[in-house]
Amino acid sequence: MKVVGVIGAGTMGIGIAQVAVQNNKQVVVIESNEEVLNKSQLNLFKTFEKLVEKEKLTSEEVNLYKNALTFTTDYNVLKDADLVIEAIVENLEVKHSVFKKIEEIVNDSCILASNTSSLSIASISSVLKNPSRFLGIHFFNPAPLMALVEVIPGVQTNYNITDLVKQEILSWNKKAVLVKDTPGFIVNRVARPYYGEALRIYEEGIADFATIDWAMTHFGGFRMGPFTLMDYIGNDINYTVTETVFEAFYYDPRFKPSFTQKRHKEAGLLGRKTGKGYYDYSEGVIQVKPIEDDKIGIYIFNRILCMLINEAFDALFMKVASREDIDTAMKFGVNYPKGLLEWADEIGLEKVLLQLTDLFEEYGEDRYRPNPLLKRMVYKN
Ligand SMILES: NC(=O)c1ccc[n+]([C@@H]2O[C@H](COP(=O)([O-])OP(=O)(O)OC[C@H]3O[C@@H](n4cnc5c(N)ncnc54)[C@H](O)[C@@H]3O)[C@@H](O)[C@H]2O)c1
Repeated sequence: MKVVGVIGAGTMGIGIAQVAVQNNKQVVVIESNEEVLNKSQLNLFKTFEKLVEKEKLTSEEVNLYKNALTFTTDYNVLKDADLVIEAIVENLEVKHSVFKKIEEIVNDSCILASNTSSLSIASISSVLKNPSRFLGIHFFNPAPLMALVEVIPGVQTNYNITDLVKQEILSWNKKAVLVKDTPGFIVNRVARPYYGEALRIYEEGIADFATIDWAMTHFGGFRMGPFTLMDYIGNDINYTVTETVFEAFYYDPRFKPSFTQKRHKEAGLLGRKTGKGYYDYSEGVIQVKPIEDDKIGIYIFNRILCMLINEAFDALFMKVASREDIDTAMKFGVNYPKGLLEWADEIGLEKVLLQLTDLFEEYGEDRYRPNPLLKRMVYKN
């Protein structure tokens, strides 16, 4: 592939364009808002200059990249594109109208892709004349730094196209994983208990935010505790992802959103971007210290981890992705210290199942039901 088109010069589009150009592609960036287009171009060029200062790129490389980039509002530049990745607003109707337009311009062999996080590949492809050349290519934010890319064929995608895209993304030095077109794909599905179970533990009064965060970083080696991470992502965005996944799974109680998060969102306590979330980021504020009680900490860590492992087993059980890809996705899409399935093996599947069974018996709630595959694997041994 020589020419890559990127639609949308927002957070994701500009990052994807940077990744593609640094992998020696000719890149055309199309953005409907001229102001955003100019600002994004300027910012990308500034990023390149910073990388030169840090000696990560040479001036010659940057000149090559700048020459290989075209920024425009004109869709006609897509006529020579081999691959088009759309990263515009997350709205099905808008994506439909954009893809209808793109299909009129590109050549027959051009592959079309969406970077959507929450819409199904099947639903976006429904307006295409040739849906067999369409699939999901899901980058993580920030695209130049996050190694993971989820490659998602829809029900109508041609196998060879999926394979070609996977090989292409691998050649961009990314970890490409293959995922079934299901809500949240791998990462946004399997990671839900990291937030949901942490919120539940808080709501039950077992521990405060700081203590739950401490438990996960101290005992689990996670880079950020769930509340620090939700404040970082933004409570509005994180809540919406949970709500979308919950609805898409026909209201499966495993994904039930939390009132605590909803209230934080409603109150405008969105996290770092508003200066307050679960924590107060105002200058001079002394943060609440965790209660470093090992017994509570280990309980919290075990409970959240076994819920994450159960979710990873569900993804495997429902053939969302291979065992290896599920572990790769969590390590490189959300920087988990270990893949959840390998972690389960390390702990011992019997132990994980016992913890889940205890929770299920104690609460009698469906969200704690142990996955059938996990049960089968334990009983078989
Ligand atoms: N932000 C994330 O963390 C993230 C991560 C993975 C995937 N995604 C997905 O990537 C896509 C883009 O998200 P984002 O965060 O970059 O959004 P964004 O709002 O930062 O950028 C979207 C850009 O698309 C432009 N745009 C809108 N309609 C257009 C059109 N018809 N033609 C050309 N440009 C148009 C907008 O002006 C805007 O600049 C969404 O589908 C989102 O679900 C986002």
